[in-house]
Amino acid sequence: MIDFSLQIPTKIDFGRDSLSHLEEEVRRYGTRVLLVYGGGSIKRIGLYDKVMTILNGLNCRVWEISGVKPNPRLGLVRDGVTLCKEQQIQLVLAVGGGSAIDTAKAIANGACYDGDPWDLFEGKGKNDHVLPLGVIVTIPAAGSEMSDSSVITREDDLCKRGRNTPLNYPKFSILNPEYTFSLPAFQTACGAVDIMAHMMERYFTNTESVELIDRMTEGALKTVIHNATIVLKQSEDYDARAEIMWAAALAHNGLLGTGRVTDWASHKLEHELSALYDIAHGAGLAIIFPAWMKYVLSKGCVGKLRQFAVRVFDVPEDFGTDEAIAMEGIARLERFYRSLGLTTTLHENGIGEENLGRMAQRAVAMGGGKLGNYYPIHEEDAQAIYRLAL
Ligand code: NZQ
Ligand code: ZN
Repeated sequence: MIDFSLQIPTKIDFGRDSLSHLEEEVRRYGTRVLLVYGGGSIKRIGLYDKVMTILNGLNCRVWEISGVKPNPRLGLVRDGVTLCKEQQIQLVLAVGGGSAIDTAKAIANGACYDGDPWDLFEGKGKNDHVLPLGVIVTIPAAGSEMSDSSVITREDDLCKRGRNTPLNYPKFSILNPEYTFSLPAFQTACGAVDIMAHMMERYFTNTESVELIDRMTEGALKTVIHNATIVLKQSEDYDARAEIMWAAALAHNGLLGTGRVTDWASHKLEHELSALYDIAHGAGLAIIFPAWMKYVLSKGCVGKLRQFAVRVFDVPEDFGTDEAIAMEGIARLERFYRSLGLTTTLHENGIGEENLGRMAQRAVAMGGGKLGNYYPIHEEDAQAIYRLAL
């Protein structure tokens, strides 16, 4: 195990009655509130009205940035920053999923920076404080409700970038599994894949003596697999939705990455895909992660993939050689993704070879010449992985 520091400052209010905490949270920060949300699902499920009733009861003045799209764009961030500066916003409140939350994070940071908010994503500028950010989650997936990262796409050149900083931690996140009952099967499935990917990016490591977190991760992965299958049959199963919602936050709050070198090659390869083709991040990961696994296995990374196969997908120890066991684990992961109704190849999404070179070059450049740590991915490796995903 390697040395680590862990500080997760976000307060979590979880459960059926969790929205009742909004009032006390807002009181802490002020009455000038910027509400950030997506294309309207929060209105359809009645959550918008509930939030507005609470804010009105506190005599808040509320401004809105709405219409945030999946793979959120810089334009709305700039609009939000301008609003915050002009109206002296005191609290940014995101209601939705990763896209609304990441937009709100970028706005909260940009409001405390003199230049263009994109500078912060490119590392060209720095802010040392941030507006307080609150979150009400409606889709368990990105884990942004408890993470230090924000991922935004610049529309001019479809450049999708993440920025990690402790300033990104929300002050509070309200998680009510009932708000996720309305999720379409596709979004539920994409969410499950993303949650699992956040666990697997940390699980696949060469760091030794990390048994505690390995076993916690294996249990968490099994929990998501089990409950994703349940909610796809029974959308309003509160307990299964609750397991998934809590798993999403724990998957990406840093705990499962403690004491080890983590990977993240698959995420960087996927971000190029969702930037260029605007597909859902989870749908992209269902294609990229198995391809990455097959590639690193072919390069001799057997041990952890074998462990994953045996402990997460119950491949029998006597199934065959270590490589055969590992390969069967990958096959079972792909079968699981397909059982959720997702695809696992680029061709099934109408994507061919045309941009593989460009995506490989950009992904690796974004990673500073190399991606990942479990097995270092250079440009030719990245191309080979995209090719395996075809
Ligand atoms: O826009 P609305 O109408 O709200 O619809 C959304 C959207 O179409 C819908 N939805 C959300 N809650 C719903 C609902 N529909 C019905 N009922 C509900 N309760 O779901 C769709 C997807 O929403 P989005 O916020 O885009 O999903 P997700 O949470 O998967 O976020 C994806 C974004 O997060 C980034 C991804 O790259 C992508 O841009 N990520 C952010 C991370 C972070 N900040 O830590 C880490 C991740 O690895 C990821 O990169
Ligand atoms: Zn992700």
